[in-house]
Amino acid sequence: MNCTAAKPSHAFKKKDVVVLFLPETDARGLKMSLPGEFSYVGRKLDLSYFKGKKSEVVFFPFADRPAVILCGTGKAGDIDAESLRRSAAGAALLCGEKSISRIRVMVPDIKGIDPAVCLSSIAEGICLANYIFDRYKTSKNDNGRSRLSAAVFHSAARNAAAVLKKTAITSRNTLLCRDLINETSEKSDAEGIAREARALAKLPRVSCTVYGKKEIEKMKMGLLLAVNRGSKRPPRLVVLSYRGDPRSKKHFALVGKGITFDSGGINLKPSGHIEDMRTDMAGAAAALYALKSAAELKLNKNIYAVLPLTENMLSSDSYRPGDVFTAYDGTTVEIGNTDAEGRLILADALAFTVKRLRPACIVDIATLTGACLVTFGELVAGYLTTDDELGRLLEDAAAATGDLIWRLPIFKDYEDNLKSDIADICNISSEKNAGTIMGGIFLKNFVKNSKWAHIDIAGTARYSKQRGYRPKNATGFGVRLLLEALINWK
Ligand code: BES
Ligand code: MG
Ligand code: ZN
Repeated sequence: MNCTAAKPSHAFKKKDVVVLFLPETDARGLKMSLPGEFSYVGRKLDLSYFKGKKSEVVFFPFADRPAVILCGTGKAGDIDAESLRRSAAGAALLCGEKSISRIRVMVPDIKGIDPAVCLSSIAEGICLANYIFDRYKTSKNDNGRSRLSAAVFHSAARNAAAVLKKTAITSRNTLLCRDLINETSEKSDAEGIAREARALAKLPRVSCTVYGKKEIEKMKMGLLLAVNRGSKRPPRLVVLSYRGDPRSKKHFALVGKGITFDSGGINLKPSGHIEDMRTDMAGAAAALYALKSAAELKLNKNIYAVLPLTENMLSSDSYRPGDVFTAYDGTTVEIGNTDAEGRLILADALAFTVKRLRPACIVDIATLTGACLVTFGELVAGYLTTDDELGRLLEDAAAATGDLIWRLPIFKDYEDNLKSDIADICNISSEKNAGTIMGGIFLKNFVKNSKWAHIDIAGTARYSKQRGYRPKNATGFGVRLLLEALINWK
């Protein structure tokens, strides 16, 4: 969708469709909130039926005046960036139903909210809700919905054009992230994702190295290779680098789980759990598009994205429960369960990142445990960290973007549960509980003393139904969260 900024005052035409935001108040208050040129709305309509409640959206196609979409924002004092995103999403979804392809949005002036934040939140809500994955639909309006092609934002914000440009970049990359995740495992396989990563090298200051199976063997990434054994498709290890601050050596590293299909392996997943496992590379996709966004925004930071990529499949040569493999850093790992594969490929990627890239801090992001979905549902991601400051950076980014996270503890005693009779550690816990924490504790073994955080997006990466500006299936969770953290990282 094409987003442009314009002045608040404008000669609106009869065929325009204009989105107006109105607070929850009485009919008189609503009339007063209407921008002057839309006073006809208050005269032609009985606004006592419109309450201005959050998520209230109505469409009035006047025959002789610009059509209006009224969006409730809820009570003036309760409005924040997230509530604006949600109200705006309502307008975009309505446009999809009514086949409206172009809109003009009157960005309101809200007391206590920075006009730039108001503009970016509304634009973001519209861009993020304006998404349909219809690549495989031979009839494009099969879902009875269309996409907006253009939105003009009438805003009094001083730097409106720059604000919109940034929002357009982050939103577009979130939608591209969803596309890569929603794409089939047939296409979004290790090489498919590596191809996407290589394409980023055309951006200024971005370089990309893709390690193939032979090189991964030479580097002795025994865990990534173990998971890959059942698959006909070779693994890849992608290392993206963005050097936005060439004078500095300091890097922020993102590491993303890239299981392109998780069958569970010999510990095969049952029906009801296996169907959506093409989305098990959502962490890799989020890391990739966060780095792409940073490069397109020309952030003056140095960033790595490390993506271990493979399928977890079954064959006569699959890795088995009871096998032992040696990680990149020499740690021997007993396979307690072949379905706990994400932590194995991440272990090698994390050890590689620590040893070869030496970043100042590492954040890994992964659809790691079903337990995370059980604990938090689809609304919040669980995270663990060894560094309070990094935790605060991530929590502030979560609050700003609406990609919510909640911290889980790391205590020494948890480590006992990973003891193995025959190897240094086991990839599953000897107790069945605390699954998300145990996944994180396993990973912690491979980051040594680095500042590190692990974000489990098993619940948030994929929605079982549409909610606000996030559609059913891939949500793109993590792109905006990680980017915001990178922006604020010092
Ligand atoms: N990819 C799954 C986790 C997952 C589950 C993501 C549901 C999204 C939705 C992961 O590889 C997995 O299978 N984890 C196991 C770990 C267990 C064997 C310790 C799990 O959660 O059951
Ligand atoms: Mg698994
Ligand atoms: Zn998995």
